[in-house]
Amino acid sequence: MKIKNICCIGAGYVGGPTMAVIALKCPDINVTVVDMNKEKIEKWNGDLDYLPVYEPGLREIIAQVRNKNLFFSDKIDESIQKSEMIFMAVNTPTKTEGQGAGMAADLSFVESCAKNIALVSKNDKIVIEKSTLPVRTAEKIKTILKKYNNECHFEILSNPEFLAEGSAIEDLFKSDRVLIGGDTTTSGQKAVKALVNIYSNWIPIDKIITTNVWSSELSKLASNAMLAQRISSINSLSVICEKTGANTVEVAKAVGMDHRIGSYFLSPSPGFGGSCFQKDILNLVYLCEHYGLNEVAEFWHQVIKINNYQRMRIVHKVEELFKKDRKGRITILGWAFKKNTNDSRESSSIYISNSLLNMGYKLNIYDPKVTEERILDDLNNLNKINNNPAYTSTSDKLQIYNSLNESINGTDVILILTEWDEFKNFESDAKIIDTRNIYNGNKYFKL
Ligand code: NAD
Ligand code: UGA
Repeated sequence: MKIKNICCIGAGYVGGPTMAVIALKCPDINVTVVDMNKEKIEKWNGDLDYLPVYEPGLREIIAQVRNKNLFFSDKIDESIQKSEMIFMAVNTPTKTEGQGAGMAADLSFVESCAKNIALVSKNDKIVIEKSTLPVRTAEKIKTILKKYNNECHFEILSNPEFLAEGSAIEDLFKSDRVLIGGDTTTSGQKAVKALVNIYSNWIPIDKIITTNVWSSELSKLASNAMLAQRISSINSLSVICEKTGANTVEVAKAVGMDHRIGSYFLSPSPGFGGSCFQKDILNLVYLCEHYGLNEVAEFWHQVIKINNYQRMRIVHKVEELFKKDRKGRITILGWAFKKNTNDSRESSSIYISNSLLNMGYKLNIYDPKVTEERILDDLNNLNKINNNPAYTSTSDKLQIYNSLNESINGTDVILILTEWDEFKNFESDAKIIDTRNIYNGNKYFKL
């Protein structure tokens, strides 16, 4: 089956970069990324310096393929109709209400995509789950597609995305593996082959693995759970290091040099952030509980609990410094959940800063890529839950800066929370708490 037109629903951190790379590597295919958020689409079509997603290398690709074979549009129905293959790359956050609230994935965005596809399609389509989903979601999607369209045949594939933000383009170019789950039926295998053909334009064939749909869905949750587990493991060891005089970085190096363990994902931190680790593990915990696997659920839940513990541990370090006298100013360096992204979803900076503000500390905040508006939204969204008054950046309590030097001027304590390169070297008399082990000068505390 020759694919000529691809539609991707969801122009976010996955949809944008992934489709940009497919368009670049498959010049014969027209790729249209659609989104219900018109403002986002306008930004994708606008100034290359202000794309909605910041990723190293993305700007250059967009400049090369935009309006050649990559299009951003809000005409969702039209794009679905003309495409043989449709990716669903919409958000799947943790449910905030109803059954499973606080744990299960909110599938309403995926479900509404499926309904939309069914309602407007006039011929057969391959529908691809790009979003991270609980195991057996494909069954639900199939039911929705059938309910709203009995005429066309929809083949559902699972093709989870493994890119990490900040290195998305590099990850997409040189994926460790591409995973495609499909039905074992003839039409299922035909659809799998069509997707394999697309990726094989740049991914070596031995790195494209095909499985059944359920293995593919579960492998994505399992990968994120295993990665996050390593961070909670090293963060929990960092507490023992502090008590015993061992050095976490030395321990991580010694442990990681065992090739059976490996050196990746052993950097201690103020806790992992990002839109996915927490939600995907909670989703896995919910799945375990659903099947009555309480011990397994508790095992994975502990990964989240250690993450929250680590965040509060950093707050207590600051408390220790001020010796309960909460006068003085703290500079928070870094709001993004990791370097090289403008994304701050679930960043530890939000939780640590919010706790400090609620305790009465005054904060300066600086991040090279996260906007002031975003920082205030992050804090105020968390504050709303506690019915606290909204923060503004002009209050004495909270100042948001556009430069590192201004943000650290006259401050008492500097708390490095994101590992941006520019935080490696700067001059200051303030006490420095370095939760990323990057600062080259004297530190009061490091993990
Ligand atoms: P995102 O919030 O950045 O983007 C999702 C987009 O989908 C939004 O722009 C939203 O407006 C749009 N959308 C939602 N419902 C829609 C609908 N019915 N019609 C049209 N547009 C709709 O999310 P993201 O970070 O790109 O993540 C998407 C999925 O990919 C999630 O399931 C996530 O777990 C998974 N994932 C994310 C990453 C990552 O690094 N962010 C990596 C791998 C997998
Ligand atoms: C993560 C996975 O790495 C991707 O494979 C996956 O596709 C993605 O989630 C997803 O499903 O959304 P991402 O969250 O973008 O990617 O970034 P990571 O590099 O995994 O970092 C996540 C968090 O863990 C960051 O806050 C980072 O600082 C922290 N981290 C990472 C550590 O604290 N220590 C480490 O050693 C590594």
